[in-house]
Amino acid sequence: MVQVTYVAHDGAETTIDATEGDSVMQAAVANDVDGIVGECGGAMMCATCHCYVDQAWAERTGPRDEGEDDMLEGAASEITERSRLSCQIKLTAELDGLVVHLPEEQL
Ligand code: FES
Repeated sequence: MVQVTYVAHDGAETTIDATEGDSVMQAAVANDVDGIVGECGGAMMCATCHCYVDQAWAERTGPRDEGEDDMLEGAASEITERSRLSCQIKLTAELDGLVVHLPEEQL
């Protein structure tokens, strides 16, 4: 299991035990975490899985790729240097304890 904490826009934290190999988006949807929609199911065809990787984890999750950049242009909330599509972050043992922050809105 990989522990992931989602911090909502209002500061409320939800910590879940996710399955290794799932994406940050899949883990959120499977555990009914509010604030991640994942409309396209992870096909990188929407931006409703937008999240901000916590500063402490940004190096381990790595930078977003060009495809993510393109999709995030359509995101409902502000884009920052820590913005990622959570469906593109695969959970590995190395990411145990990951913290991501959720935008104010996804749609
Ligand atoms: Fe649609 Fe991530 S779920 S881009």
